[in-house]
Amino acid sequence: MKNLVVLTGAGMSAESGISTFRDAGGLWDKYPVEQVATPEGYAANPKLVIDFYNERRKQLLTVKPNRGHELLARLEDHFRVTVITQNVDNLHERAGSTCVIHLHGELTKVTSSRQPGNPAYIRELEPEEYEVCMGDLAEDGSQLRPFIVWFGESVPMIETAIDYVEKADIFLIIGTSLNVYPAAGLLNYVPVGVPVYLIDPNQVSVASGRSVHVIRKGASEGVEEFMRLLHSIPVF
Ligand code: APR
Repeated sequence: MKNLVVLTGAGMSAESGISTFRDAGGLWDKYPVEQVATPEGYAANPKLVIDFYNERRKQLLTVKPNRGHELLARLEDHFRVTVITQNVDNLHERAGSTCVIHLHGELTKVTSSRQPGNPAYIRELEPEEYEVCMGDLAEDGSQLRPFIVWFGESVPMIETAIDYVEKADIFLIIGTSLNVYPAAGLLNYVPVGVPVYLIDPNQVSVASGRSVHVIRKGASEGVEEFMRLLHSIPVF
């Protein structure tokens, strides 16, 4: 089986009802990013940050995967599919994708404030635990914090992601403005000659000089179109 590597961003989940970040009315319009998504913001007002992610986490209970997520899962019948996502929701997994790499963490997990990257302290929450409170402690006695990679923090999963991208036979980008690094830089690791597709209803500027086949549609219709096009791609 050939390797299909997919990089997804907030636009992947937009049709499920989860806001993107940088579109008009997006999350970063409503919440100052430096307050809710940086270590400095967390140090200044941990309750605000914990509440922000409590809200995001509770939203997971009200949304479901869209057709785009479902079709990506179905592509596993034909390809070894790796989904590298910047999203912190669990919609790819719930749609049935079996290899999902979360670059920016996962809403359903919490960790230690003192050593957030230490696997010993990362823990999956049950839905009834989705409301984290001040005073809820990690195993090391520090405040439980969201398992989210904030701006200015390292992205430990990037090395794993690069390993997959380097072995891609087809690379597909869906619903990301490609503003945030190192995720946006993954395109530079796609081997020369490998076809690159990009699904987004809006124009996205791609920094690398390589040619990209743009499907200017939303995620669901875009993945449908991509599946039709696959029959004309030589690797299929
Ligand atoms: N289908 C596909 N794409 C869509 C849709 C849709 N229905 N609706 C909007 N989009 C596109 C937008 O046109 C935009 O290009 O999704 C993209 C969303 O871009 P951003 O809001 O910048 O989200 P993303 O690229 O995922 O952000 C990266 O930034 O703040 C951080 O950590 C956060 O993981 C996030 C990272």
